[in-house]
Amino acid sequence: MSLFPARRRWLSGPQRGAYRREVHAQADRQRWRPVWHAAAEGSGLSRDVAVAAGITTIVPELVSVGRPTVGPTALVVRLLPGQLAADVRAVADRLAPALGAVQLRVTGLSDGVHVRIELLDRDPLAEAFRPMLPAVATITDPLILGLADDGVVVSHALADATHLAVQGMNGSGKSRFCYGLLSQCAHAPDVLVAGSDITGLLLGGPWAGTRHREHQAAGTGDLEQHAASLERLVELMDQRLADMPRGVDKIAPSSDVPLVLVVAEEWPGLLRAAQARDRKLADRITSAMLRLASEGRKAAFRVLVLAQRFEAAAVGGGYLREQLGLTISFRVPTESLVMLHGDDARELGAAHRTAEPGIAVVSAPGRPLARMRAPWFGEYRDYCAAVGGDDW
Ligand SMILES: Nc1ncnc2c1ncn2[C@@H]1O[C@H](COP(=O)(O)OP(=O)(O)OP(=O)(O)O)[C@@H](O)[C@H]1O
Ligand SMILES: [Mg+2]
Repeated sequence: MSLFPARRRWLSGPQRGAYRREVHAQADRQRWRPVWHAAAEGSGLSRDVAVAAGITTIVPELVSVGRPTVGPTALVVRLLPGQLAADVRAVADRLAPALGAVQLRVTGLSDGVHVRIELLDRDPLAEAFRPMLPAVATITDPLILGLADDGVVVSHALADATHLAVQGMNGSGKSRFCYGLLSQCAHAPDVLVAGSDITGLLLGGPWAGTRHREHQAAGTGDLEQHAASLERLVELMDQRLADMPRGVDKIAPSSDVPLVLVVAEEWPGLLRAAQARDRKLADRITSAMLRLASEGRKAAFRVLVLAQRFEAAAVGGGYLREQLGLTISFRVPTESLVMLHGDDARELGAAHRTAEPGIAVVSAPGRPLARMRAPWFGEYRDYCAAVGGDDW
């Protein structure tokens, strides 16, 4: 519709509404254009181009300004040739104050040339996420992993043939996250929570008297039991693979043949402790874990490895890290973030190095990189009560 129709007086009601909206939209664009231009130029999104009159500076064009009644103001801009949404995300920290926002949420539109920039007045992950965490009934039910900064709940079903990696510095929220995760799957009859935990907090004690406990090794008193327990799991995996009926390439878990979730809490700590005792012991533990991770998917095994950082030297080689598809990083240095999530994560590095406990970056093949807030599960005794061991 033309902005100034010749016979404005005779516009119908809906036409008048559309006319008014267009006038407001144009006024918004007018008002935002110099602000956007200065912000984009100052943040390095501009280019100098030669024109007849000399050199001029261009920035991605501001196409529209949306001001919904609910939700943040959103700018849509058209990228310059060769620019990506990632280029805008990379300078989001510089753009935000220039646009009067605390934080930006940048989304590339499906046409590949436009980007939506939402101006947030606070970090959407600033507040604790305290959902109900119901116990799942089976491996196809989604486990709640967290709340992404676009307000979508991030979930994962163990039926997906993916192993998990969780990293984070001291006190960043790894264990709490796992309290939430394990308590959700503790009562599914087709899941067995097995593995090794030198801290004896995540596995071990809380699970006393449950069907899971005999498949877990906990504490540092007897490191041999960690190797033996992981080797028993490898035997079970081999048995399942050997018994696999003809014409079947993967096992369908059931309560008789449950999916085995092999948890390795403080994995580098276990390897270091074993190495200090006896190199052969460390080799046994490493090779059992590598076999579970590389061959276990078909035999309904999933591994969940926790480490402060996933440096190859600390986790027994880069090969293990490459097997872990669903990756979650709590507060870590930028290099560790990039190591687990790829180069796209670099732009989040500066902010994530000092992230609050419980704030994580999550990614998986086919799942775009996202920031999320892990659920707040409650206190340790709540976890112990939720997994249903005898002592609680
Ligand atoms: N999702 C969360 N929301 C809010 N606060 C959290 C969350 N997760 C953890 N915290 C806070 O961070 C503290 C440390 O969490 P946690 O013990 O899980 O860290 P960790 O990464 O396992 O540390 P460590 O490496 O020392 O084992 C918790 O006691 C709690 O105060
Ligand atoms: Mg911990």
